[in-house]
Amino acid sequence: MRHFLTLKDFTSAELQQLIKRAIELKRMHKAGEIYQPLKNKVLAMIFDKSSTRTRVSFESAMIQFGGGSIFLSPNDTQLGRGEPVEDSARVISSMVDLVMIRTFEHQMVERFAQYSSVPVINALTDDYHPCQLLADMQTYLEHRGSIAGKTVVWVGDGNNMCHSYINAAELFGFDLNIATPVGYEPDADIVSASKAKISLFNDVVTAVKDTDLIVTDVWASMGQEEEQKKRERAFAGFQVDDSAMALASSDALFMHCLPAHRGEEVSAAVMDGQQSVVWDEAENRLHAQKALLEFLFSA
Ligand code: CP
Ligand code: NVA
Repeated sequence: MRHFLTLKDFTSAELQQLIKRAIELKRMHKAGEIYQPLKNKVLAMIFDKSSTRTRVSFESAMIQFGGGSIFLSPNDTQLGRGEPVEDSARVISSMVDLVMIRTFEHQMVERFAQYSSVPVINALTDDYHPCQLLADMQTYLEHRGSIAGKTVVWVGDGNNMCHSYINAAELFGFDLNIATPVGYEPDADIVSASKAKISLFNDVVTAVKDTDLIVTDVWASMGQEEEQKKRERAFAGFQVDDSAMALASSDALFMHCLPAHRGEEVSAAVMDGQQSVVWDEAENRLHAQKALLEFLFSA
């Protein structure tokens, strides 16, 4: 049995295969082909944080695959009233076929996985967001071909998405520039553990130069709402705008996991501009996660 808690749970070859499969599943779906490998199977979805894309994509994936899903929020479960993660994992996994979790502490998904009798998927923690990277890598491949040997720049907060980009750099073979304000760098242990070429910057101009993909994310992630004002001040100058895009390669793409704050981390012109592939990126959550569900179920 396999879990998907970070990208590093899979090999490069498995990830490449998974992205290829996502593209094939997308083609089949668009062609109206019915494919139901998870008939009568159930995915439990534990959400301790809000979601639009993750919930809709996983629920749709399970319906299209012939199975079903159960949405579990802390307001309605005993987990939310303090039932231990270990006990909940044993009970929930005894009744379903796969579990997906979005929560705060990354350790929670690790503990759950340890006691689960079925595969567990990390659908975002404070530290990582691996499902988003599957969609991002699929989107780059569809638009520009292989990302291996390219240079990606992460602009903004050294957050969960940034950490998953650090993992992706090693597994998909690209160089990664990271531009953050001082004090908002990614976790030093995650950076130093990477075998990829990771370069840290505290300014956007140098980091963005000649890159092939520009990625950003909100300045205050879920759980950091009270820091919004402080972060707006700290991140001044870290907006991805036309002047930043102009420094990148002429065929560079722009990605954002969404939800986006136009006028903060990205200008409206870039978000809605020619180089932005954010809508394909969001849609690919569905296709990439279908490939993930199929893989984990048959692993
Ligand atoms: N990108 C992403 O995970 O979106 P949601 O928070 O809407 O699920
Ligand atoms: N970094 C953001 C990503 C949202 C999909 C957050 O954790 O809120």
